[in-house]
Amino acid sequence: MHSARGRSHAKIILIGEHSVVYGKPAIALPLSEVTTRVRISSVPSPIQMIRSRYFEGAIRQMPHTMYGLQHLISLILNEHHALDAQFELTIKSDLPAERGMGSSAATAVALIRALYNYFGWKLSHTELLQLANVSEIDMHGTPSGLDAATAASTNPIWMVKDRELTPIPIKMDGCLLICDSGIKGRTSEAVASVRTRLKNAPHETNQVLDKLSELTLAAKEQLAKNEICGLGKTFDKAQEQLRSLGVSTQKLDHLIHASRTLGSLGSKLTGGGRGGCFICLMPDQITAKKAGAQLKKLGVPQTWVQPLALRAKEEVN
Ligand code: PMV
Repeated sequence: MHSARGRSHAKIILIGEHSVVYGKPAIALPLSEVTTRVRISSVPSPIQMIRSRYFEGAIRQMPHTMYGLQHLISLILNEHHALDAQFELTIKSDLPAERGMGSSAATAVALIRALYNYFGWKLSHTELLQLANVSEIDMHGTPSGLDAATAASTNPIWMVKDRELTPIPIKMDGCLLICDSGIKGRTSEAVASVRTRLKNAPHETNQVLDKLSELTLAAKEQLAKNEICGLGKTFDKAQEQLRSLGVSTQKLDHLIHASRTLGSLGSKLTGGGRGGCFICLMPDQITAKKAGAQLKKLGVPQTWVQPLALRAKEEVN
């Protein structure tokens, strides 16, 4: 039996959510500890099967909610004249869906890598991102490309919409504690509410967006210079701005406040908000794990710890 694997990981937005929609920069961080794995194996019968947490069965019978992946698979096979190949795909993921962790992009990246490894085709980084964005467009309409770029990178990504999407250096001790608030993120609703706010109160809202942009620039410097306390303060200030934009919730505010009493150097929501995840900058893994355990008692269903110091070498594609 012939088989191959592909792998990728989650992303979170470190800082710059919402202001990035209006042309300001954002920084996203790959979470190498939170992975999606795809295994592809040959099968004796003439079928193409998929096994995932949402669906098990023939690829051509995948539900509409998985259309992006189905489209991606047939596009790749068609391009390489391999539509008749017989195989079974198994997707395993530690990423929760709809929590702003880039689950769909991570699946696409792992799947593309698995397929190309299995058939022995060459894959450049540019091709990988282009292909991943095919399913992201199917799933999200007009993705910024940030999720796919971060799912395929081992370094943080600096992004300015339609202009820049580049890895940036990071030299930082400590780690991030990522906490699920237990409520699905409502990114499109939050983005729409900021747009309305901008229309109704342009001056005040633009001031907030400018402030978020300044904080993102400060975070870039702090990440490169190991200024962990400074970065913590930047996170707290960003959370204040996001709160004033109306994208936080009482539950997020409460949990974020609690995290600060548990050793966090700075905490903020991440992604669209109105639910989803929040991140806490922790001085070390022990403090992070202890705080995570306490936050679970306060209603956080799941936490992850991501070291910031060690970044592996960039993957080939
Ligand atoms: O919730 P996520 O991880 O999809 O991030 C949304 C980020 C926003 O800036 C709020 C929207 C966007 O499209 O950039």
